[in-house]
Amino acid sequence: MILQIQNLEEYQQVYQRSVADPEAFWAEMADSFVWKKKWDRVLDWDFRTPKVEWFSGGQLNITENCLDRHLESRGDQVAILWEPNDPEGETVRYTYRELHAAVCRAANALKANGIGKGDRVCFYMPMVPELAIAVLACARIGAIHSVVFAGFSATALADRVKDATCKMIICSDYNSRGAKNIPVKKVVDEAMDMGCDSVTRVIVHRNTGGEVAWNDRVDRWWHEEVDGQSSDCPAETMEAEDELFILYTSGSTGKPKGVVHTCGGYMVYTCFSFKNVFQYQDGDVYWCTADIGWITGHSYIVYGPLLAGATTLMFEGVPTFPDAGRFWQICEKHQVNQFYTAPTAIRALMARGDEWVEKYDLSSLKVIGSGGEPINEEAWNWYNEKVGKGQAPIVDTWWQTETGGIMITPLPGITDTKPCFAAYPMPGIQPVLMNADGQEIEGNDVEGLLCIKFPWPSMIRTTWGDHDRCRNVYFSAFADKYFTGDGARRDAEGRLRIIGRVDDVINVSGHRMGTAEVENAINQHGHVVESAVVGYPHDIKGQGIYAYVIADRTDAEPLRREILEVVTKEIGPIAKPDKIQIVPGLPKTRSGKIMRRILRKIASGDTGNLGDVSTLLNPEVVEAVKEGAV
Ligand code: WTA
Repeated sequence: MILQIQNLEEYQQVYQRSVADPEAFWAEMADSFVWKKKWDRVLDWDFRTPKVEWFSGGQLNITENCLDRHLESRGDQVAILWEPNDPEGETVRYTYRELHAAVCRAANALKANGIGKGDRVCFYMPMVPELAIAVLACARIGAIHSVVFAGFSATALADRVKDATCKMIICSDYNSRGAKNIPVKKVVDEAMDMGCDSVTRVIVHRNTGGEVAWNDRVDRWWHEEVDGQSSDCPAETMEAEDELFILYTSGSTGKPKGVVHTCGGYMVYTCFSFKNVFQYQDGDVYWCTADIGWITGHSYIVYGPLLAGATTLMFEGVPTFPDAGRFWQICEKHQVNQFYTAPTAIRALMARGDEWVEKYDLSSLKVIGSGGEPINEEAWNWYNEKVGKGQAPIVDTWWQTETGGIMITPLPGITDTKPCFAAYPMPGIQPVLMNADGQEIEGNDVEGLLCIKFPWPSMIRTTWGDHDRCRNVYFSAFADKYFTGDGARRDAEGRLRIIGRVDDVINVSGHRMGTAEVENAINQHGHVVESAVVGYPHDIKGQGIYAYVIADRTDAEPLRREILEVVTKEIGPIAKPDKIQIVPGLPKTRSGKIMRRILRKIASGDTGNLGDVSTLLNPEVVEAVKEGAV
């Protein structure tokens, strides 16, 4: 089994070792997995290209490490524990043996439908066990999965399917979420009508059993394709650097990009980080509330826990259905030991009052985690006192889609914790703070731009179909460093606090969004002339979306409604602006650049000191924008 750090002294010693000789350290970590063939070279890298290769020459299949390896030692242990949306519904359990068989059947079904190594398969599914099963089935046969969060619109789905030229889409009929029954297949049908010509098969999992339209040429039922298959499917031999998956994420410009992760390094790092960050012990029940449509679900619902032989709980529903006690009811029901959620959920539940959390016995909790966005002090304290009862340490985990795994975090019971501080780098992670001139800022009690100066196994390899974009976005701002896009502060004792994005990316309810992407969507409205989108502090969501819109119509109310519709159609409801202000103009520099700094201040209600606006092309609009603020 992979190294699990036990105490502070060991953390310090392991960290030193991982930095002094990273190759030796990661070779040792990689040694605890099943390889079909050992690697020839631990690491080969050049951030200028960028080229990052871990364990090259090595051959493996990640599913053998998630499943086959555990059959003998824990075949009858529960691997996936599934809790339905409906609290009266039945919990579903897959032991490692059952999961192995289910994955093999699904893998054989994929093959029978023409999917092979290197083909891309898109997923558009709710949080049902079949999603995890089918994702693993792809990995089993060497197909590359691209999971799209099922809240995205048909347009957004079609964009992603086309970018990765997926051969297949796997979806459900409907998604039962809270009190709603959301059509899923219908969205896929719409996406298919938008020119997804590469797709030759749509496999539909019958979830709620509602009516769906059917296209005999491409559509097939999951149960008809999967149920009769053999539960034996040899795992495809993969090179360590073969692609495992693509996951689309937003950046400051352009369309979302497909972040590519590869088999070997991702396997080693997600397992290592899972074991250490959550201090998972045999027999524990671990629950991460994320959706598999995001990186957190990939790394810490599916791969990390299964690699570590854990019992991972998967929840179909939402935190507030049927009431605001649902998370805690599930924790009590399944005696959850490690609980991992997002600050936005903590804030939303905190706002509903303490009675919900006090109703349930949470004494099984040993570690509680937070991640995906900054956690404010009030939420941290509430989480600590009301959920952890001061007994379960909070791990505030900082990481990104691009990092593949948790990078900066306390280790529970091992390092100290401090509200709002992700605190300490994981072994093998070398964070640095940089100033705008490209120099490293040393010492403590300082603030700068967060970079990572040495490769780690689960880092991004490329952006699908556009390697230059990967270089330009992450490796060109600072020579020989990976730039995160985040600002951070190092306190007097050396702990790191993530301040937030320094680019035009905003984080709304833990969902990452490019302001340019939302602007592009708004601009699809025929009467919108120009728009500018910024984030502003929002009590529950962390950040809200504030849109300034210039239009050639004056009926503000209908216009607002139509803009919301356009954004929902272009991206999905998660990108709907919280506030839309119709403005006569946007403050611009003489070179025509929108002054977002001013717009951010106005959106935050901070209009006292807007700085010097006299150099603007159109200083007079600032007053008008200020006055019309919503
Ligand atoms: C932000 C989510 C503060 C950060 C796993 C990062 C955080 C972006 C934290 C990545 C944290 C993530 N504290 N900010 N603990 N974790 N972030 O790709 O701005 O959806 O760059 O990955 O979320 O979001 P992504």
